[in-house]
Amino acid sequence: MAEILAFLKPDAILRPNVGAKIVYEIASHPDFSIQSLEIRQIDESLASTHYSHLKQRPFFGWLMSYVTFSPAYVMLIACRDEMVTGLRTFLGNTMSHLAQPGTIRGSFGIYGGVNCLHASDSVESGCLEASLWKERLGLQEGRFDQPISEFMARYDASTPNNTMQLRELCADIAKSGDVTDSIVDQIHELLRQECPGSSETTVQDLASIILGSCTR
Ligand code: TYD
Repeated sequence: MAEILAFLKPDAILRPNVGAKIVYEIASHPDFSIQSLEIRQIDESLASTHYSHLKQRPFFGWLMSYVTFSPAYVMLIACRDEMVTGLRTFLGNTMSHLAQPGTIRGSFGIYGGVNCLHASDSVESGCLEASLWKERLGLQEGRFDQPISEFMARYDASTPNNTMQLRELCADIAKSGDVTDSIVDQIHELLRQECPGSSETTVQDLASIILGSCTR
């Protein structure tokens, strides 16, 4: 059996219905078994070790701000070795707007690298990532900060999911290179609807992170 490290990123945590839907999809998938789910603040030291392969990339600073912006929901997932690639297929392309419809990132990632969920991409990286995160955060199999059943019960299909509207606005910005006040206001409003528990400052900061992914 393989062990995979997965975590919901801030755009999935702050949009609680999106986060619940993603946990719901993983938990109800016959090939994956969630062994633990812990709510943890990722610090820059862990984030930069985890993403050390990207240190030279121009978006690295942005990536650090994004993944450390809010606590993450960190999961250890067990699956058969041959299903690790299946998990990545289920996750979708790194860049949300290029991810296939129906994948997690294609359905819920907002734009570019704002892609709602990380999952290890091979048996080897699963092993390395799980041991790094267990050592740094003291993760333990069998520990659930929130029972999976609560996520399943919390997901409400009638609550607005504004992913596609947000993605269209980001695509307009990426195409024109122009960040107008009107587009920023629309992004704020769409996020406000999806982030009922978040302060106005948090909504604006999340919007800045999203804008950072479509203006580079
Ligand atoms: P990476 O490890 O290459 O991809 P994945 O998350 O699919 O395993 O990249 C880590 C994160 O960095 C990715 O989830 C989003 C961000 N990223 C960008 O914003 N732009 C990029 O061009 C790449 C490659 C990654």
